[in-house]
Amino acid sequence: MATKGKLKLEAILQHSQLDIAGTSTSLISAIDEILKTGFKPEDFELFNDRITILNEIIGYIGYGSDAEKIGDSETPRGSVNGLECDKKFESVVCETFQKVCIPVLNNLYPTQSSDGNVLILLGGTAQLVASCIRKNVDILTDVMDFVIGNIEILIQDVSLSYGLPHDKSTPDICTQLEILRHVLNVIPSIDCLDMSVLGKLSSVFEKLTSILKNLSNEIIGTSCVPVLIKILNVSVNYDELMMLVWNCMIDCTQESDGKVYLLLCGFANHFFPVSGQLRNTSSLDVRKDNQFWEILQSGLYSKDSLSRKRSLYLLKRIVDICESNNEDVNEDVNTVFWWTKKKCSILSKVWEDFLLLAEVLEEKQVHVIKPLLPRMKNLLKASCNTGDNERPLLHTSWLKTVLLRSTHHESLQIIRWSAETVLTIDLNECPMIQQGLDQYLAGEMLYSLREAKLYIKEPTAPTGTLPVIADKLVQFFSTCWHTLPEDKKVSFFNLTLRNIAARDWGHIPLLFICRGISMVPQSPCIDSETVLCLRKVLTGFLITMDTYFRGAIQGYIVQILIKLTDKSKVSLDDFMQIVSLIKQEESLQRGTTLWSQCIKWLTEEVDDASDWTLDGISHFVETSVEKYLQTSIDSKYSLTDGTTAGNIARLLLLVTDASLATKKDNSNCTTLSKTLETLVSLLNSINSHAYMSCHKADKALLMLILLVKEAGPCDNDNVTREINSSIEKCMSEITVYIGRQMYEHITNMEDLGVLQLYVDGIDMLMKCVGTKCIPYIISLVDRCVHTLSQGLERPTMREKLHELTSVCILGKISSILVLEDDTIYTDIRNKICVLLKTWKVVSNFSKPVGEQSLSHQEWGRVTSLFLEQEWQVILLVLQYGHKDMYDIQELLNVAEDTLSVGLEQTTVIVLKCLKLIINLVKDSVTEERLLSVLSTCWSCLQESRRLLAYWDVLEAFIQAVYQCCLLEMDESSPVVKKLVEFANDLIEIGTDKNGVVNVLSTQLYRTLSQPNMLLHLNKYITVIVNLCKFGGLVRRGVRQVYDICAALEQDGKACPANELLKGIQNEDIKVRVAVISLLCSLKLDVPDHRNLATNVIETCLQVYCDIAKTSTNRFANSMVHRERHRLIQTVLLLQGFVTDEYVNTLWNMAWSSLEFETQPSVRHMLEWLILWLMKRFQQFRPQLWILFEKYRDSKNLTLCSLLCIVIHLGPHLPQHEQKEYFKTAMPYILPWCMAHHFQTRIYSQAVLAKLWDQCRLLGLDDILKENAILQSIFDFTQQNKNSTKNVKKLLDSFVFKYLDFERDFTIETLYKIMPQMTALSEEDWINPDAFIELDCSWSKDTASDVIGLRNTSRSFEDCDPGLWKYIGLKVPEDNDAADDTVNDDNDVGDVQKKIMPWRQMMLDEETIQEVDHGVKQVNNHGLVVVTSLINKVPNLGGLCRTSEIFGVSEYVMSKLGNVDDKAFQGLSVTAHKWIPITEVPEAKLSDYLEQKRFEGYTLVGVEQTANSVSLTDYTFPQKTLLLLGNEKEGIPVDLISSLDVCVEIPQQGVIRSLNVHVSGAILIWEYRRQQLMKALT
Ligand SMILES: C[S@@+](CC[C@H](N)C(=O)[O-])C[C@H]1O[C@@H](n2cnc3c(N)ncnc32)[C@H](O)[C@@H]1O
Repeated sequence: MATKGKLKLEAILQHSQLDIAGTSTSLISAIDEILKTGFKPEDFELFNDRITILNEIIGYIGYGSDAEKIGDSETPRGSVNGLECDKKFESVVCETFQKVCIPVLNNLYPTQSSDGNVLILLGGTAQLVASCIRKNVDILTDVMDFVIGNIEILIQDVSLSYGLPHDKSTPDICTQLEILRHVLNVIPSIDCLDMSVLGKLSSVFEKLTSILKNLSNEIIGTSCVPVLIKILNVSVNYDELMMLVWNCMIDCTQESDGKVYLLLCGFANHFFPVSGQLRNTSSLDVRKDNQFWEILQSGLYSKDSLSRKRSLYLLKRIVDICESNNEDVNEDVNTVFWWTKKKCSILSKVWEDFLLLAEVLEEKQVHVIKPLLPRMKNLLKASCNTGDNERPLLHTSWLKTVLLRSTHHESLQIIRWSAETVLTIDLNECPMIQQGLDQYLAGEMLYSLREAKLYIKEPTAPTGTLPVIADKLVQFFSTCWHTLPEDKKVSFFNLTLRNIAARDWGHIPLLFICRGISMVPQSPCIDSETVLCLRKVLTGFLITMDTYFRGAIQGYIVQILIKLTDKSKVSLDDFMQIVSLIKQEESLQRGTTLWSQCIKWLTEEVDDASDWTLDGISHFVETSVEKYLQTSIDSKYSLTDGTTAGNIARLLLLVTDASLATKKDNSNCTTLSKTLETLVSLLNSINSHAYMSCHKADKALLMLILLVKEAGPCDNDNVTREINSSIEKCMSEITVYIGRQMYEHITNMEDLGVLQLYVDGIDMLMKCVGTKCIPYIISLVDRCVHTLSQGLERPTMREKLHELTSVCILGKISSILVLEDDTIYTDIRNKICVLLKTWKVVSNFSKPVGEQSLSHQEWGRVTSLFLEQEWQVILLVLQYGHKDMYDIQELLNVAEDTLSVGLEQTTVIVLKCLKLIINLVKDSVTEERLLSVLSTCWSCLQESRRLLAYWDVLEAFIQAVYQCCLLEMDESSPVVKKLVEFANDLIEIGTDKNGVVNVLSTQLYRTLSQPNMLLHLNKYITVIVNLCKFGGLVRRGVRQVYDICAALEQDGKACPANELLKGIQNEDIKVRVAVISLLCSLKLDVPDHRNLATNVIETCLQVYCDIAKTSTNRFANSMVHRERHRLIQTVLLLQGFVTDEYVNTLWNMAWSSLEFETQPSVRHMLEWLILWLMKRFQQFRPQLWILFEKYRDSKNLTLCSLLCIVIHLGPHLPQHEQKEYFKTAMPYILPWCMAHHFQTRIYSQAVLAKLWDQCRLLGLDDILKENAILQSIFDFTQQNKNSTKNVKKLLDSFVFKYLDFERDFTIETLYKIMPQMTALSEEDWINPDAFIELDCSWSKDTASDVIGLRNTSRSFEDCDPGLWKYIGLKVPEDNDAADDTVNDDNDVGDVQKKIMPWRQMMLDEETIQEVDHGVKQVNNHGLVVVTSLINKVPNLGGLCRTSEIFGVSEYVMSKLGNVDDKAFQGLSVTAHKWIPITEVPEAKLSDYLEQKRFEGYTLVGVEQTANSVSLTDYTFPQKTLLLLGNEKEGIPVDLISSLDVCVEIPQQGVIRSLNVHVSGAILIWEYRRQQLMKALT
């Protein structure tokens, strides 16, 4: 269009008498005028028009140098001639530039504006500048100065982020770039460029590179790089400029926007020319620079996909260049990339593997990636030392590149692959460490293992198996340890541990990483800074973890400290601080293995001069104690005292035990003795030394308490004894001191901290000295009782706090005495109990009157403390006091009130009291009253759901509510109904909260299994049945936690948490264990028990039918499947109890259930039930054959069940019935062996074979003889391999081969083996040990009347449950997390090879040129494919792709515009970019064909016609044109007649014709094939 317009204007100018110069001048002044009024967007169009015209005119006029150049032009330029004319035009050009271009350009801010007109105007104006230069080269200098000036202003404004919208006072970068772009287009046509201009260009280059970092990628890509490249192409200081670019790139590496890759790609032709030859020999070759490779590699694993793509492009390009130019690159061994002619082919192979992997990792679908993963092995091999001193083909940093890329892949499988691969690299072979990748291993690699899902156990591995990666971690760290040279080992382990501390970790990854490190051999590595970092871990995110995991991690950290601490670099103080952070109750406790390991480590020999000798440590501890005990006059007891004392206590006991371990003489543990002595003498003098600081005494007391705590529960060892005897020495003084302090020093709220210290002191005394402290305690009790019974009217704050202190002391004493039966305490108890006569128990500890300063919250804490301790006292009174000492009704009221206040700590203790109170008042209050109390308890429980104390509250609640006295109330009582209601609600809550229902079921077991209580079960049948079917679906993450705990428990003492804690387990199983055990305590010979069991059976079946009816979910292991399974399990368990009245119903129910039940696991339970009924009730036996008739025509599985029953029943019948049975069975089963239904057929064949065997075993020879013909049938089927395989599988299955329904009727088979063999999820397998765990009486043979615990025959143990999966329904895969891992052993098989050629990946301006003019060599005399008759766009797209792939030289379509259609592109992909396309509308087709015939082409119609030649007989000439027909009408007749020949593809099928793309493709291929064959010959 533009050209046409231009032509027109030129013609007009030519023929008109227009005064061009004059016109131009007036145009210029018109523009000038408008500009004077300001530059307004609404004028843009006007500007645009005028500038276009000016452009035309300036392009048209000729003078000066330009006129000479185009002097041969026939056209006279303008109407004026001669010099005068030149001058006029010259001034037009200059004015245009000065008065139009400059002002307009100064006012354009494309960056600022989103208005498209601005860009159009900018383009036009820049074009005009270029035109001006064409006419007057001198202007070039002005332009350059203009641009340089503007860029300089830009640079000065450092605060500016160029290329972003900005204040209009600074010039605009896009404008400058656009000017440059147009100007640079002119430059090649200028004959000899002035040196000064060249200098200015260099200056522009330099300035632009200096601001590149601040430009947006878009500006760089679209404007800046093209400009820079154009300058490079004309520059005289090329190398210098290239260096500038390179430095600028290095500068950009830190930016996260991938700028460096954009630039590298932009300048690829210069840095990596296709010829392999850099422009000058001295030019920069970045391939020699490792910094470049580092940049490239981090691009390959960048999280930004564009950066990855660009890096991949560069790498492919470089490899391709190396390959095709066959050069030697980087002989220096230290570079990460190298190439030699000598090894070209094998290097090519390695890089092909690398590129394939890198490229395929861009795919999302695992199935595409998987086949290529084994190539990693090739890369590993290529990176290994060859042994012959030759350099490995691949630097190990390339491995890192692939591994890091795969760690942020979308698919977990790939992430797992990556983790497992890196952890199994053989560092002895693979020189990663030698090549400096230890930093990576200790850093990025470690962080790549932070995903918890990596640690999921293999789905097929049994419970208790560690996740694969756990062991790999152990192996990995051990290999690192062994491979690393000493100095690197130190830095590696320090770095690893510091890196761990530098981030937050989930409990699972941290656990396994610490475990891995903790298992390396011992060697001093880590220094004090690392120890400090580890402290951060212990005090940081570890705090919120579950205790078991925290215990384990802490333990591993201790082991790491022991293994790796460098005693010469870590001070004792550092060690003391970190070791005391390890929680005593979770990991590090005296008596544990971990403690012994610490001791052993401390006793290891060290340099005598070191602080770490035992004497050194002792000395350190002693000084620390001394320092600790120092106080100043005004110092007061504070929290930090606790920390310091704790630190010292831990180290003191460690060194004490260590000394004991090394010295024969046990008595001589001096440091402990010394310390104790100091403490005792201090405490003994407090009451007599008037001036001694209380703070000092408090500290001493605290230290003593903490020593006791640290000494732990090892009650009869020397250390404990020594501590206890020291306490004994000062107990009287301590009590006196406490008694005094309580009333003198606890006067305001701040003193409550010290109150706790005194309470702990009492606790310590009573626990360590025992009865010996009674006389001292009694006086304290007296004092407290006295204070409390005063009943002051308006107590002051001080008096209130006295009350509080007294209650706390009494509460503490009571809590200890509640557990002590000893009568020696009777005195104290009585004193406390008597208190209740005078003391008014309260539910609210009110603030002192007039006390304003305390907040509600602060007083709330005081109240809570008071009430908790108050109820501790009451609990003691309830347990030991006389009924007449208190008003029980009143207590009930206060308890209820207290509960309604709902304080966390108080609730538990009040509930415990309520348990006793309820028992006492049950008969004296109304049922309504009881109900109201129960409801209060229930709401309390609900409110505590989010509290830490929830489990204690729950336990107390259940004990209070499900106690015998309530359980045994009358069935009609609303209380019983309430209990049922609570229980069912709890079961509901328990589906989400692991362990809740377990508390209930254990309590029910405990209370109801007592013989006199058992019958009360009858009132709770629905609860029992709900418990029988209980067990929720476990979420994947939760299951993972269970699995890990189970596996760690297998580690035994090696996992430090195991000695002190129990891992989180799925408690659901235990619910069922308790209720099953309860049912198993029923007695067969008690008629009431039989009735009760029958009731349970009945309810189970009812619920079973309800579930089956309402749910349509047929997936194996769905919730409904498992519930149904559990219900029928219960029925089967209790079948022995079934009453005669109910047995028929049961029989019918079993059969009707078999009709609809689809799950094999449940079906087998039902079959088993039926077998028992047939065994025990003769009347059912004859039914068997009748049922066969009944189910004859049904295709459902009932027939298979019948067949299954047939094989089990025979041997269990009374002997005299057996013969008859088999005699009937054989011929009966035989015809089913030919049944149409596959499963029935296979079953019958297996059953027949089994019956045959049974007859042989039972010696029923007659029957064998009678049915001798069967033998030949068996022989026949043997030959039919396919069917025998299935039959054999069935015969080998557990139910067919091993199960004996009478012998194996055990808890083990019912609850463990059957679920396992029938592919029920592992959460439903109950190990017999779980029963013994609940109640050890299960280990006795006679535990239950109903059923044995374990199987007598263990033959099932070698039965493969895998077989069952085949017979049963398919188990749905856990498709995300625990999916099958990548099979690495697969040898490098054939895979889809899809490397995209680099030339097609990224097309900057120059590569496009390359592709157009060099790379894609189109054969001009090849095949022409004409599709002008085709209508459907997808066909056109598809044919375009086929044509491109087979090198068609011209592709003809009726409309070029088709290529923009989405449907076209969907099929053509990008083919249309690589193939020449001609537009020939249908109307012009015949002309076109004529033209082609004229050019020497043979015109071939692709069509079935009367005269067409079969493709098999046709030989294509080289110059062939294929004309394809329309989808509906084919090729029109008139065209057919103008063709040289029609070729058809011979067809065999029914359908009339092929699709046109398919036909085209077949012919195109045949053409290509013939050409290829010709070339070969
Ligand atoms: C679906 S066919 C067109 C209709 C076809 N002419 C008919 O009689 O129904 C579309 C085009 O596919 C090509 N085609 C289909 N089957 C062919 C065959 N067996 N041999 C050669 N060309 C075939 C022809 O170019 C044909 O014009």
